[in-house]
This record gives sequence, structure tokens and C-alpha cells, in this order.
Amino acid sequence: MKPTTISHLRQWKASGRKFAALTAYDFSFARLFANEGVQVMLIGDSLGMTVQGHESTLPVTVADIAYHTAAVRRGAPQALVMADLPFMSYSTPQQTFDSAAQLMRAGANIVKLEGGEWLAETVRMLTERAVPVCGHLGLTPQSVNIFGGYKVQGRDEAAAERLLADALALEAAGAQLMVLECVPVALAQRITEALAIPVIGIGASNVTNGQILVMHDAFGITGGHIPKFAKNFLAEAGDIRTAIRHYIGEVEAGTYPAAEHSFQ
Ligand code: KIV
Repeated sequence: MKPTTISHLRQWKASGRKFAALTAYDFSFARLFANEGVQVMLIGDSLGMTVQGHESTLPVTVADIAYHTAAVRRGAPQALVMADLPFMSYSTPQQTFDSAAQLMRAGANIVKLEGGEWLAETVRMLTERAVPVCGHLGLTPQSVNIFGGYKVQGRDEAAAERLLADALALEAAGAQLMVLECVPVALAQRITEALAIPVIGIGASNVTNGQILVMHDAFGITGGHIPKFAKNFLAEAGDIRTAIRHYIGEVEAGTYPAAEHSFQ
């Protein structure tokens, strides 16, 4: 099997083939996911909550993400590995370069950062220095204290226009992928159609080019609040390998996420 690259994701978008991604944080799950056909994995700063037990993603450091990225890379040598730049790790150019370098050296193929047009220069600087960038718009968990909770974004016309403008600005600056989290279906459709780059949704309905789930949500491990967009594939499948294959199959067929997992 050849390595999955950003070019593959672009080709899939062009041909209308949907793809399924999962967060991964360790060697064993990464290897299992890869063996069952997951070609895109994210070392998300969600690990602050799912692995470390914090209330939010804010305590996560670059060293944490790098540690888990290296483990995932060992488990999935051919996967397209995305690594999150955590909270306050890209606030100055030098800090951004140092953070991104640490993640790329750990095995990432692309780094992800949260925020809109104000990050265009950061995206440009990283891209010029050979670091591919994935944008992340909509519900950006690092901004939870600004949003006042984990809320659907882009519900009114002005907010929707802002998010569309942000997406276009990040793409123009060189972003190669875009994660879109918790936005209404109509806005997800507008952004997915407006961008040439692949859009990966989470809580953004089935209109995006790809889907990503926090692995704990896909297997029903998440305690407390279960997001509306989450689906426990393990409950239906009975074993983890079948659950992964069902997730991939339903994403590719466009049957997950269904209307009940989406926001209007
Ligand atoms: O940190 C994470 O796991 C993420 C996904 C929710 C997209 O950013």
C-alpha cells in the first residue's frame, strides 16, 4: 500500500468519493485503523479530554501532540497524519515555526490550526516553509471561552458569511485541507462547494467531502455529554474492526452522518 497524500484527497473531492478519518492517539489504535482502511488520522488536541481527562483542549502542549503523533506514525506508516497545533502554540511566527517543526519531525504530514482570516499570514508562512496546513473553522474548541460553550456556529446570515470569507481567505493563503465543525447543513454545503480544497466535516452533515470523528465518539467510550453528530458504531457492529469498516462504509455511501446527526 502506498502512502496517502493530500493529492489523493484532492482527487477524491474531484471525483466525488467521500472519505472517512478518525482521531488516533496511540500505536495500537493507529495500526488497527490503518489495517481496516482508515487512510487519514488526526492527532487532535481532543486528546486533552479523551486521553488526559481535562475539561477542555486548552492544557494540551506541543510536546503532548508530538508524543502521540510519533506513536500514531509508528502504527500507521502509510496514513496521512494530521497533527493539531494546540492552544497558544501559534501566536508568534517563531513560536509557530518551532511548534510546526516539532510536529512534522514527529511524523505529521500536515498541521491543523483553529481560526479564520486572521491566520492567513500564518498559513502562508508555514506553507512557504514546506509545512502543509489544514484550517479548522466553525466550532473551534480552543475558543470555547470566547464562544461560552461548545455551540453550533454560523447560524445567522452574518456569521455564515464570515465563516465563508474565512474559509476562502485560508484557502487563498495556501491551506490544503479544511475541517468544518458544527455548522448548519446549508453553510457546510456553501463552504464545501466554494472551496477547491477538500473539506472534512464533524457535525457538518454529509455534504462535506470527508468526515472525521473523535475515535471515542465512534466507539461509545465518551462519557457525559454525547454530541448530536456522534454515532456509536461499536454498539451496532459488536466488535471494533467491524465498527471501523461500518464507519468507513457509511461515510462513503453518504448515509452517515444522517439528518439526525446534523444541524439545520
Ligand atoms: O481535536 C480534535 O480531535 C479535532 C477534531 C474534533 C476535528 O480537532
